[in-house]
Amino acid sequence: MSAPPFDAFRYAHAKRSAIAWMSQNTNHLVPPDVVRGALEEAIRTRRYEGYPLAAGDPELLELVRGDLGLTGLSLFLTGGGTESLYMIARALLGRGDEVIASDPSYLIIHKFIELAGARTQNLDIYAPPYRLTADRVQEAIRPTTRMILLIDPLNPLGSGYPREEVRALAEIAHDRHLILLNDVTYRDFSDGHALAADFAPEETVTVWSVSKNCGLAGMRLGGFVAPREMAATIARYNTNDLGVNVFAQIAATAALRSKSAWIGEVVRRTRENGERVRAVAESVAGVRVPVFPSRANMTVLDVAETGVAPEALQEELLRRHDVFVRAGHYLSPTHGKRFVRVSFSNPPADLDRFAAAFPEAMRALAARPPAPAAR
Ligand SMILES: Cc1ncc(COP(=O)(O)O)c(C=O)c1O
Repeated sequence: MSAPPFDAFRYAHAKRSAIAWMSQNTNHLVPPDVVRGALEEAIRTRRYEGYPLAAGDPELLELVRGDLGLTGLSLFLTGGGTESLYMIARALLGRGDEVIASDPSYLIIHKFIELAGARTQNLDIYAPPYRLTADRVQEAIRPTTRMILLIDPLNPLGSGYPREEVRALAEIAHDRHLILLNDVTYRDFSDGHALAADFAPEETVTVWSVSKNCGLAGMRLGGFVAPREMAATIARYNTNDLGVNVFAQIAATAALRSKSAWIGEVVRRTRENGERVRAVAESVAGVRVPVFPSRANMTVLDVAETGVAPEALQEELLRRHDVFVRAGHYLSPTHGKRFVRVSFSNPPADLDRFAAAFPEAMRALAARPPAPAAR
C-alpha cells in the first residue's frame, strides 16, 4: 500500500510554534498589545456567554465605514471575507452566468462561482502587467457575462491596479450593466489604492477583511459593502443570523481604532521583507520574481527554469527547515506548476530562516533525481 500524501497543513499546525508561517499571507507584525487588553477584558467579563448584536457592534460598523471611506452603502459583517464571497456568488449568480476573472487568482472564489452554477472565464495574466486590463475585459465580455472579479491587490502575484485602471473597469461595469466584485483584502499594503465603488457605486460589491491588514486571520471577520438593494439580496444567504463571533468583533474594533498608529510600520517592514525575499530568491540561478515590488504582502517565486517542482519545494522547506510556503497549484490551473507563493508580513527571525533555507532547499532538490512522472 502506498503512503498517504503529505498533508502540509496538518504537519504545520501540529508544529505551529516552530514554523515560520509564510504560506497564507497572514500578518505577524501587528503589535500584540493592539488587541490583547480588549480580548482579556472580554474574557474577564465573560462576553462569550451572550450573543452579539446581530447586525454587528455599532462602533465596529462605524470604524469599518470610516476605514473604507464608503458612505451611502450598506455594510454587512460575515465570518471572514470568505463567507461574503460565498454569499455573493450564491445570491447574484445562476446557471449560465459567466464571470470574467484571471489565472492566476484566488481560486476559492472561482469555486463558489461554480457552486452557484455559473462559470469563470479566466484571462491568462501570467505575463506583464500581471493583472487584468480594461481593454482585455472589454473584449472578453459576452452576452452571458454577468460579473467582473477584481481582486486588488491580487493574491498570489501581488500585482495592483492603478487608479485609472480601476476607474476604467468600473466604467465598463456601469456601461455594460455588470456586477463588479472588488475584493480588497490586501488594500492596506498598496500605496494609492482605489476602490471601484468610488467610481461605480451602484454596480460594485466590495469585500473587505481584517485578516491580513489587522493580523486577525484566526478571528474570521470580514464583510461586504454594497448598494442597499444588492446588499439585501446577498444577505438572504446569511447563515450567521445570530451575528458574527463576539471576540472577533472586539479584536477588530480594538485594531481599527488604533490602526493609523501602527499600519505604516507594518507596511514598511513588509516592503523591506519583500525586497529581502526577492534578493534571496534571485540569488539562486533560474529563479524569477515576476512581480516586484508586490503591492500586497506576498509574492510569487517562479522556479520553472530550475526544474524543481513547487510541491517538492514546499515539502522540503517545511519538513527540513520548518519554513512554510505554498505551492502554486491551488492558485493557477495553468501556471501553478511553475511557482511557489511566499508571504512576508513576518518578524526578522522568520526572514532569516527563509534566507538560510531557500537556497539550501533548492540545492538539495536540484541534486535529487526527479520523481517518476505520475501515471
Ligand atoms: C483575495 C482574498 N480574498 C479573500 C480572502 C479570505 O480572507 P478571510 O480571512 O477574510 O476569509 C483571502 C485569503 O487569503 C484572499 O487572499
